[in-house]
Amino acid sequence: MSLLLGVFSAFCLLGAALSQDMPYEDYLAQIQACPSECHCPRNFPSSVYCDNKGLKRIPKIPPHTLYLYLQNNLIEVLSKEALSNATKLRWVNVNRNRITDGGLEEGALGAMPQLLQLYMSDNLLTSVPVGLPRSLEQLQLSRNRISKIPAGVFSGMDQLSLLDLQGNKLMDDAVTEVSLKGLSGLVQMNLAKNQLSSMPTGLPPSTTQLFLDGNNIEGIPSEYFKGLPKVAFLRLNRNKLSNGGVPRNVFNLSNILELQLSHNQLTEVPFIAQGLEHLHLDHNRIKSVNGSNICPVSAEALEDYANESTPKLRYLRLDGNGIPPPIPRDVVTCFRLLRSIVI
Ligand SMILES: *[C@@H]1O[C@H](CO)[C@@H](O)[C@H](O)[C@H]1NC(C)=O
Ligand SMILES: *[C@@H]1O[C@H](CO)[C@@H](O)[C@H](O)[C@H]1NC(C)=O
Ligand SMILES: *[C@@H]1O[C@H](CO)[C@@H](O)[C@H](O)[C@H]1NC(C)=O
Ligand SMILES: *[C@@H]1O[C@H](CO)[C@@H](O)[C@H](O)[C@H]1NC(C)=O
Repeated sequence: MSLLLGVFSAFCLLGAALSQDMPYEDYLAQIQACPSECHCPRNFPSSVYCDNKGLKRIPKIPPHTLYLYLQNNLIEVLSKEALSNATKLRWVNVNRNRITDGGLEEGALGAMPQLLQLYMSDNLLTSVPVGLPRSLEQLQLSRNRISKIPAGVFSGMDQLSLLDLQGNKLMDDAVTEVSLKGLSGLVQMNLAKNQLSSMPTGLPPSTTQLFLDGNNIEGIPSEYFKGLPKVAFLRLNRNKLSNGGVPRNVFNLSNILELQLSHNQLTEVPFIAQGLEHLHLDHNRIKSVNGSNICPVSAEALEDYANESTPKLRYLRLDGNGIPPPIPRDVVTCFRLLRSIVI
């Protein structure tokens, strides 16, 4: 008898551990409602795996699902009905499917009031979806066909910190103050590989990481970063920037740490902010570098080794410009924290 009891209590303990503090009844309901097309791990019942199954539609998702994996299928419709019991979803991945604007059933997104992350990259959307949950923290919409950001679509979305729109068809007039209104907590904005010919307008002052690689940007207005005091990581690789389009002090930003300007048409080294740590200038048209001209601090400050205003540059790429070696001595004198320079 005591042996039996022991086995029974061990079973109960195991059950409790396996259900991740989910009440046992919920655990049972969750496992029993697992769609036959999907995998609901018994030791991780809040996750439902329906990825890579050739699915054409979303199966009925069980009620206690927090993490839903639907990537790599042939799904055309984000069905409100299929998701109607799964009201607690935190994380939905529908990357690599065939969802069009018309496939977003009205209210389907709004029926996930606790959603934190939505992955909808590699679908067929032409517009940023309306009715996004206000709870969202991360939204990935890369490699769709998006050319429109409807006015007010982000209104009230102050939790959103990451917005990934790379690889779409956005032109200058699509990214404006009106279209981005509401993103007051945005940290990372990725607009790489779109069709921008000028710097996007309307970015919120919270923007810290701005990725604009692979557009057709020719210049930067001299006051552009006045409204973006937090920018620390700025990537503008593979654009059409020339020194004529880049005002001398435009990158003199107090919080900048990383600046990537590879594959542009620069003929001179732009201003290097004192705090900048990583600078990519490879594959431009820079023929020579004068260390004293590009040094952001005075010779006196450089003499004092402990001076806190010592330039912070640690990594510099200049290859693909045709600058003949050796590295000018005055570059090393100025940037004494430099650990790596590629020429
Ligand atoms: C929702 O839950 C109810 C009650 O368990 C069940 O009858 C119904 O089929 C479920 N609907 C979906 C779409 O999962
Ligand atoms: C760069 O910015 C700093 C801090 O705002 C300022 O003191 C300095 O004069 C600026 N340098 C140039 C060359 O504009
Ligand atoms: C760098 O520029 C300064 C100031 O314009 C000039 O005096 C100096 O000769 C230049 N250095 C080299 C190596 O050309
Ligand atoms: C750094 O050097 C500058 C220029 O010589 C000087 O004005 C400043 O007081 C120095 N700062 C420190 C902390 O030594």
